[in-house]
Amino acid sequence: MCGIVGYIGEQDACPILIDGLKRLEYRGYDSAGVAVLNGGGIDIRKSVGKLRALENVLEDCAPHGCIGIGHTRWATHGRPSDENAHPHSDCTGRITVVHNGIIENYVELKDRLVRGGHEFKSETDTEVAAHLIESHYKGDIAQAVRNAASEMDGSFALVVIAQNEPDKIIAARRHSPLVIGLGEGENYLASDVAAFLKYTRSVVYADDNNVVTITREGISVTDLDGNLIDKKAQTVDWDAAMAERGGYEHFMLKEIHEQPRALRETMRGRLSLEKNCVELPGINLTHDEIRKIDRIVMIACGTAYHASMAGKYAIEQLCRIPVELDVASELRYRDPIVDEHTLGIVISQSGETLDTMVGLNEVKNKGAKVIAITNVVGSMAARDAHGVLYTYAGPEIAVASTKAYTTQLMVLYLVALYFAQIRGTLDEQRATELREALWELPQKAELILNDVTAIESAAARYYCFNGFLYMARGANLASALEGALKVKEISYMHAEGYAAGEMKHGPIAMIDPTFATITVAVKSKTYDKILSNIREVKARSGDVIAIANPGDTTISDYADRVITVPETEEIFSPVLVAVPLQLMAYFVAYNRGPAIDQPRNLAKTVTVE
Ligand code: F6R
Repeated sequence: MCGIVGYIGEQDACPILIDGLKRLEYRGYDSAGVAVLNGGGIDIRKSVGKLRALENVLEDCAPHGCIGIGHTRWATHGRPSDENAHPHSDCTGRITVVHNGIIENYVELKDRLVRGGHEFKSETDTEVAAHLIESHYKGDIAQAVRNAASEMDGSFALVVIAQNEPDKIIAARRHSPLVIGLGEGENYLASDVAAFLKYTRSVVYADDNNVVTITREGISVTDLDGNLIDKKAQTVDWDAAMAERGGYEHFMLKEIHEQPRALRETMRGRLSLEKNCVELPGINLTHDEIRKIDRIVMIACGTAYHASMAGKYAIEQLCRIPVELDVASELRYRDPIVDEHTLGIVISQSGETLDTMVGLNEVKNKGAKVIAITNVVGSMAARDAHGVLYTYAGPEIAVASTKAYTTQLMVLYLVALYFAQIRGTLDEQRATELREALWELPQKAELILNDVTAIESAAARYYCFNGFLYMARGANLASALEGALKVKEISYMHAEGYAAGEMKHGPIAMIDPTFATITVAVKSKTYDKILSNIREVKARSGDVIAIANPGDTTISDYADRVITVPETEEIFSPVLVAVPLQLMAYFVAYNRGPAIDQPRNLAKTVTVE
């Protein structure tokens, strides 16, 4: 997830681009850059690091001109560096591009372009777009962009300027956001209206496979075949701060709602229903190495640790490999038993959590191969592990992790299916059913997010209770712990996550009418046992909220309130169960009033022991 901007008008473009990028910095801050058409050519300035670093560069030598494009990067292909910072240019330096998204077939396109004599300067997929447009350029830049876009798979919002056509900016999109701002004698382009709201509220949203030409006087939009498309302008009534959060009051709520997109991005290029397989190019393990794994050790902290719990369940079920879990701060002091047939899996959103990184090196030094599941390209975890599988969640700004968690689950399920495929532990029919179930998760998460009223109303009743007990079994034990952690960290209420079978061994003593129990009662092999556990809580005057599947006619006889999530395979259900639990925590905190995005005493990344 990156931020892109474009400006064409009569004013000096650079300050407008920088101002727009500041409002998009929430989308990524690994590097930033601008390119300005200055009459003679295209002037590019870029710098690794936050936008402040680019501003320092510009203090001495800002480019001047009235047409420009800019970018703030969240690295996906190629580590954060000056060379990989956007904008990127073709061989001649006459065509310059900024890009948000992932060009999935970039390796194949790059090979072809290199064979055709194109020279590359960066490791990015974006530079491929610049050279591909160059290869199609015959004097009409919009046509060259259409031809290039037709050849690209994956997601992109591209903004392009060309020295030979200095009176226009071209943009194209597929699965990545692109919005056009309409001014008087000037026009804007951006990933998000926040970038130009201070200049105009009149906007046109580009759709998939649209190619847009903007000039000072107006815009025209075509499809990839060049057919004109009539677009209607809309008026936005957000203020700039609201716009950065996509209209949501908090980043946490925005990030919860981003999960369907984040899950799709994380699956894209890895799970294919047509090819009937899972592919994990970054894993860096041979089939032989995968077959020889006799134990997996997972290392993580906090929410990522909960993801590892659900991952253990899936890997053991589907691959029959024993999985050991470790809270990273414990692993480092217990001299774990690890050898060359052990696989270490490190899970960390930031890729920088100190305990997790120490754990990574501990198992690596003992001879294990280690793969990292992380959201941050070029992070310590990505650098130190033998292989890396990125979660494509985009920047997570709220301290309470939401989309990073569900995308970590997605990667772990892909690992489970991939290992099962190589080790032959699933018959083909079952493997197909599971791949299909995984494929449907983003759409099912969307269904939950379409109507959150039942969750909002439950939170309005329970926010003034004395605390929460989350109970579940099997794969959803992870959900119980994660649900409780979310409530603790943003509403500062007492919340406990427990295996439902443990209730009688202690926690049930806490039950009274002011202590709410949230239970996961989705379809599973322990469903009947959960019903008995609910009965036990009800018999002690406890109030019970059940997360269950639609069409379950039994559960309402047991629980006080039922919140539904679509049915899926039991092993994958933690992804769907996470969504209402995150929303519950959010709405409880909202009613109680603390600072949701930045809860007290916490930091987003814990780089101390
Ligand atoms: C809770 C939360 C933390 C992190 C933990 C690990 O919402 O965000 O528990 O999950 O600090 O962080 P990473 O994944 O960056 O290693």
